Amino acid sequence: MSARTVQVRTAAPYELRLGRGIVHESMRAAREYSAAAVLSDDHVWKLHGDKLQAGDARVVIVPQGERSKSFEQLERVLDALAEVRLDRRSCLVAFGGGVVGDLGGLASALFMRGIDVLQCPTTLLAQVDSSVGGKTAVNLRSGKNLAGAFHQPAGVWIDVDLLTTLDDQDYASGLGEVVKSAVLAGEADFARLEQHAEALLRRDPDLLLDVVEACVRQKAAVVESDEREAGPRRALNLGHTLGHAIERAAGYGRIPHGVAVAVGMLHACVRSAHEGVLQDRDLPARIRRLCARLGLPTGLDELRTRSGAALSEAELADAMQFDKKGALWILPVRLGEVRAVASKG
Ligand code: GLY
Repeated sequence: MSARTVQVRTAAPYELRLGRGIVHESMRAAREYSAAAVLSDDHVWKLHGDKLQAGDARVVIVPQGERSKSFEQLERVLDALAEVRLDRRSCLVAFGGGVVGDLGGLASALFMRGIDVLQCPTTLLAQVDSSVGGKTAVNLRSGKNLAGAFHQPAGVWIDVDLLTTLDDQDYASGLGEVVKSAVLAGEADFARLEQHAEALLRRDPDLLLDVVEACVRQKAAVVESDEREAGPRRALNLGHTLGHAIERAAGYGRIPHGVAVAVGMLHACVRSAHEGVLQDRDLPARIRRLCARLGLPTGLDELRTRSGAALSEAELADAMQFDKKGALWILPVRLGEVRAVASKG
């Protein structure tokens, strides 16, 4: 089966390729450069390293997990790129989930003032969201993703076969972003998730291809219209104002990003109703029902019970002060329409 393609028409355009068993195609593209290095994490590399067919490219491995999104690991990666004498016409292949994609993207933005990065996302979250759109970052003690750069990839290879080994927590995290994407896209995408929720949970590969393609098409269209988040791209932050606060208050890495976003999105619906922004009164219940069928928590209380994290109102309010998304709430109006509303504090 040949790969599907989606064009992203940003200032430097690039192509997303989606399919089953296609990840090695990225190395074919990498060999067109003067030299290539690969960044991965120890978990992904053990499970899937052979599928990339990296040949004699230098492979830099970081420990799995959010803690690798640090200046320490960034420096390690940059030093490794210098050791193997990559030059400005070389590239870095980022083969992993969101942490590897963000870290590899930022290292590529910085190395010799910028080399190409080829993104090969291995988690559902990275496939539907973080590998597309050029946001790269490491975390600071004072908050997530606070040091970064916009650096669009030169290409993205999305291989849904890699999702079969994803643990349920990480898969659920991706599903949170899938639901968010469908809320932003509109009725057809949301109804498809409602119709096929059980098959999606089973990770049916054909359905996954359709769903991931829909998500990246929707994201590509938004990013094309606003590459650096000056306006319309802020819609992608639906669920993130509270979502990021949840992650911070619980301690980074304890509650998966997309799970926090799903709860944040449900909260945004409630807020939207209170502020008179919500037009579709059935929407909160529809999102809640879909989240429940996909195994996602349906509110803060359920998240507290499941995670064991206190997530008190005071902790969450405090965490929101630190987040760069905290100044703006993205509130749903109806499926396919949101409104950005300034936070009242
Ligand atoms: N994940 C939101 C964005 O890429 O803008």
